[in-house]
Amino acid sequence: MLFQAENICKTFYKRNFFRLKDAGLEALKDIKFGIQDRDIIGIVGETGSGKSTLGRIFVGLEKPSSGFLYHNNSNIFKLSKKDFREFQKSTSFIFQDPYSSFNPKMKVLDILFEPLILGGIERVKRKDMVDEIIENVGLKNDDLGKFPYQFSGGQRQRIAIARSLILKPKFLVADEPVSSLDLSVKAQILKLFEEIYAKSDLTMMIISHDLSIVEYLCNKSIVLYKGLIMEEALTDSIFANPLHPYTRLLIESAPSLYSDRAKDVKLEAFESPINLESAKLKLCPFLERCKLKLDKCRESFPEIIEVESNHRVRCLRYI
Ligand SMILES: Nc1ncnc2c1ncn2[C@@H]1O[C@H](COP(=O)(O)OP(=O)(O)OP(=O)(O)O)[C@@H](O)[C@H]1O
Ligand code: SF4
Ligand SMILES: [Mg+2]
Repeated sequence: MLFQAENICKTFYKRNFFRLKDAGLEALKDIKFGIQDRDIIGIVGETGSGKSTLGRIFVGLEKPSSGFLYHNNSNIFKLSKKDFREFQKSTSFIFQDPYSSFNPKMKVLDILFEPLILGGIERVKRKDMVDEIIENVGLKNDDLGKFPYQFSGGQRQRIAIARSLILKPKFLVADEPVSSLDLSVKAQILKLFEEIYAKSDLTMMIISHDLSIVEYLCNKSIVLYKGLIMEEALTDSIFANPLHPYTRLLIESAPSLYSDRAKDVKLEAFESPINLESAKLKLCPFLERCKLKLDKCRESFPEIIEVESNHRVRCLRYI
């Protein structure tokens, strides 16, 4: 395993006027899964389900409140400073809103030089590395002298991809990489991800609330709901045989890039993530929305179980 997450929890606390912590918001709870070399793993779920928090933990930008994250069998949060820096150099993150992560006063050339300078790359090598990545993401050399505002959304995403890959990371987290783009541009950027993957030795985590992206790009998928893994399987199994009622709802309500799957199913309004109070109730977090609930769902909390080989689900219907 390249990565192994073991019982990762992340709770965010706010402090009140007296600097006392509140009850906390459990953004992630008991997260357990592995990523193999060359996997493209999709993380799907509605807003607030904990996707970005999970992605940030996997590149060391956020520390779990408890649990472990092993990378090549070493707990990354127990590494020495030097080894942690090395680990971070081997990872990269494309932020949810790349435009706001650009300094508007920097030209593309400077945006791309920045990670090279921070990464200690010798001056003589920098321009060649910029030229190579610019070509790989389908931008032109003339674009290097322009500012971010002079580009379309799709081109800006190409700049963000170039910046994230210029140091040749081994592991990339892309957080909602195409959510702000219209359909034709979205398809171009997805194609670009495919090309980059084919040409490199990358392992990727693709975060998206849009199942069609994950269906298109990812070999494995994880469905998150209120900070809990609801279903985990090979993407083909999830789409051919979705087991969790929430996954079924997501699939029914998502337009597919492949088929004219029903588009008229509306997801009900999103509820806020579980807080420690509701977690104490120890019931299925999807209970109120579930159209397939059973009597026993009002009595116990579903643990995640493997119902078929490599297909795990958190639902009392399978117990
Ligand atoms: N730094 C933080 N401080 C406090 N709460 C946070 C912090 N980061 C995230 N949260 C909360 O944790 C929960 C999960 O947030 P996260 O951003 O991981 O969700 P998400 O699935 O990425 O949502 P979206 O689809 O809207 O991007 C949310 O309720 C969010 O408000
Ligand atoms: S455990 Fe019960 S309420 Fe929860 S998703 Fe399964 S059937 Fe629905
Ligand atoms: Mg997010």
